[in-house]
Amino acid sequence: MEHKKTTISSAPDTAPYYQEIGKEVEVFQHCWKNHLPFLLKGPTGTGKSRFLEYMAFTLQQPIITVACHEETSSTDLIGRFIIKGTETVWQDGPLTIAVKQGGILYLDEIAEARPDVIVAIHPLTDHRRELFIDKLGTMIKAHRDFMLVASFNPGYQRGFKELKPSTRQRFVSMSFDYPEKELEKMILMKETGIDSGVAKKLVNIANKIRNLTELGLTETVSTRLLVDAGKLIQSGLPKRLSVEVAVVEPLSDDPEIVEALRDLTQLLI
Ligand SMILES: Nc1ncnc2c1ncn2[C@@H]1O[C@H](COP(=O)(O)OP(=O)(O)OP(=O)(O)O)[C@@H](O)[C@H]1O
Ligand SMILES: [Mg+2]
Repeated sequence: MEHKKTTISSAPDTAPYYQEIGKEVEVFQHCWKNHLPFLLKGPTGTGKSRFLEYMAFTLQQPIITVACHEETSSTDLIGRFIIKGTETVWQDGPLTIAVKQGGILYLDEIAEARPDVIVAIHPLTDHRRELFIDKLGTMIKAHRDFMLVASFNPGYQRGFKELKPSTRQRFVSMSFDYPEKELEKMILMKETGIDSGVAKKLVNIANKIRNLTELGLTETVSTRLLVDAGKLIQSGLPKRLSVEVAVVEPLSDDPEIVEALRDLTQLLI
C-alpha cells in the first residue's frame, strides 16, 4: 500500500503537553494567519512533532503527516489512478486531500523526498497557493485553512540530502534543539512522573555526552532518549539498566564507544 507512511489525525481533543522553548508558538500562529509555510529544523527527538501536535490542537486543525523517504514521489502526494474492478478511478493523495479540505500537511524529512515533490509544492508555497494535478490537467486553489509544514534535519548523516536554497527560502524556518537544563528537567518530570532528583541526573548525563564531541556520534542524546529512560525508571526498572538500554545502546553500535558511555553514565546515575 503506497500511503502506509501517511497518517491523518484530526485535531486532538485535549492539549498535548508541549513545553515552549522559545517563541515558536507565537511565530507559528502568525504563519498560520498569514498563510506562510513553516519549516522545523533540528536533530531527532527535539520536540518537532510534539510541537506540531500542540499547534494543531491550538488551531483545531487536523494534521496529515507524510514520512518522506527516498521513494516518495509527487504521485504519492498528489494522487493516482487505481484499478477498481473493471474501472480506473482517481484517488486523491494526502497533499490533495489537505489542499481541498484544509488542515496542516506535514512533510516529515522533506529533503529525503524525490525532486518532483519539491516541484509540486512550489506553487503552494507562494501567493498562488495552488496545486496542479498534471494527471487530471486541473488546478486547484488551496482551502483557506491549508498550511504546509515540513521538517528537515540538517547534518543528520554523511550523505544526507540538502535542501536547495530556492526551496528553503519558501519557508519561515525555526531551529529546534535540546532545551536548557531546567526546561529539559521539567519536560522529563511531566512526561514520565520521575522526581526532580532523577530528572536532574538524566539531564546531567545528557549534557555530559552532548559535550563529548570527540566520540563522533552521528546524533547525540535527545530529549526523546531521556524520556524513554525516565519511563523505564518510573515503571521500576533499575536506574543503571534503564540508562544503558534507553540512552547508551541507542547511540552507537561501536563496542568501544558503548563501553565508554556505559562507564561514564553508570557513575552519574
Ligand atoms: N518541548 C517539549 N515539550 C514536551 N515534550 C517534549 C519536548 N521536547 C521533546 N519532548 C519529548 O521528546 C519526545 C520526542 O519528541 P518528538 O517526537 O516531537 O521529536 P522530533 O523532533 O519530532 O524527532 P524526529 O526528528 O525524530 O521526528 C516527545 O515524545 C516528548 O516526550
Ligand atoms: Mg518527528
